[in-house]
Amino acid sequence: MELLLGITILYSSFHLSSSAFTPTNSYFLACGSTSNIPLATDNTPRNFTPDSGYLTSNSKSIYLSNHHLSSNSSDLYATARAFTERSTYRFELDSQGTRVLRLHFFSFTDQNHSLATARFNVSALDRFHLLSGFSVPNTQTPVIKEYLLWADTSELVITFIPDSYSSASSLAFVNAIEVFTAPTNLIDNTTGPKQVPPSQNVSQLADLALETVYRINVGGPKVTPANDTHWRTWVPDDEYLFSEKEISLKESTKPENIKYAADEP
Ligand SMILES: *[C@@H]1O[C@H](CO)[C@@H](O)[C@H](O)[C@H]1NC(C)=O
Ligand SMILES: *[C@@H]1O[C@H](CO)[C@@H](O)[C@H](O)[C@H]1NC(C)=O
Ligand SMILES: *[C@@H]1O[C@H](CO)[C@@H](O)[C@H](O)[C@H]1NC(C)=O
Ligand SMILES: *[C@@H]1O[C@H](CO)[C@@H](O)[C@H](O)[C@H]1NC(C)=O
Ligand SMILES: *[C@@H]1O[C@H](CO)[C@@H](O)[C@H](O)[C@H]1NC(C)=O
Ligand SMILES: *[C@@H]1O[C@H](CO)[C@@H](O)[C@H](O)[C@H]1NC(C)=O
Repeated sequence: MELLLGITILYSSFHLSSSAFTPTNSYFLACGSTSNIPLATDNTPRNFTPDSGYLTSNSKSIYLSNHHLSSNSSDLYATARAFTERSTYRFELDSQGTRVLRLHFFSFTDQNHSLATARFNVSALDRFHLLSGFSVPNTQTPVIKEYLLWADTSELVITFIPDSYSSASSLAFVNAIEVFTAPTNLIDNTTGPKQVPPSQNVSQLADLALETVYRINVGGPKVTPANDTHWRTWVPDDEYLFSEKEISLKESTKPENIKYAADEP
């Protein structure tokens, strides 16, 4: 397995770009839901569909409903798919290349299950161990894990494995899944001795798997999927600044002053 940790930082103040991004191949799933969940405010708008058609036949799962969803939470978190045994989603891919994978987790408790006690592993393509011994506290805040995966196969396989040692009622779960083709210029794939950190080459990154750890809009506001062409969330940098805030300045420019390349997100 090669799983690198990546830090994505958007320099300078962010402004809404008007160019829409339409991936050639995409899946947006509302897990455990029996109806579509449209997200009309996303840029561009998306429709999350039920997940049951993407589970392999040997998967063992139940679906749960959150009857106490607060009004400020996305409808994506009103349901979850919980797995009682090793279970697998399969997504057909139309070409080889990098895929964006986002997994949404939101703990809640229904009559018979508490998702906060779930402890599990998630792997992709049977070779990338994305999450190990993972659990999600019941905090009313979604946890969204994002990966960039190089896929040269005709399908993307995502496997959830409950930790059978934790308790008799061991579960794995997920609330929503996004899989879509990454823009070709999203990851630098230039070769050569770019050495960050020293002694480790970061050339040919595109062939590997990366995990987004932080996504920070330096000097700018929070940016949500309503404002980002790839449905990303960027948080302000304030809480990560070590120095006294008084010794830094925020600068910004008009969006029209920035000339993006035609295929630049
Ligand atoms: C929703 O409101 C609750 C209670 O005020 C807060 O703890 C939580 O962070 C909010 N969730 C979101 C997604 O803003
Ligand atoms: C909880 O378990 C009881 C007893 O097995 C069952 O009758 C009930 O339908 C379950 N509730 C839910 C929401 O699954
Ligand atoms: C989960 O992943 C860890 C670390 O890779 C591994 O030691 C453990 O056996 C895995 N658990 C299951 C149930 O596969
Ligand atoms: C890193 O790149 C340099 C220059 O291309 C190469 O000589 C070296 O063998 C590479 N190191 C590793 C660990 O791949
Ligand atoms: C990345 O670069 C290497 C070396 O040039 C090449 O073999 C590989 O196909 C490239 N990967 C992508 C995704 O473009
Ligand atoms: C994000 O989009 C919303 C809805 O279109 C808009 O009200 C808001 O001002 C935008 N925020 C930023 C930082 O662009």
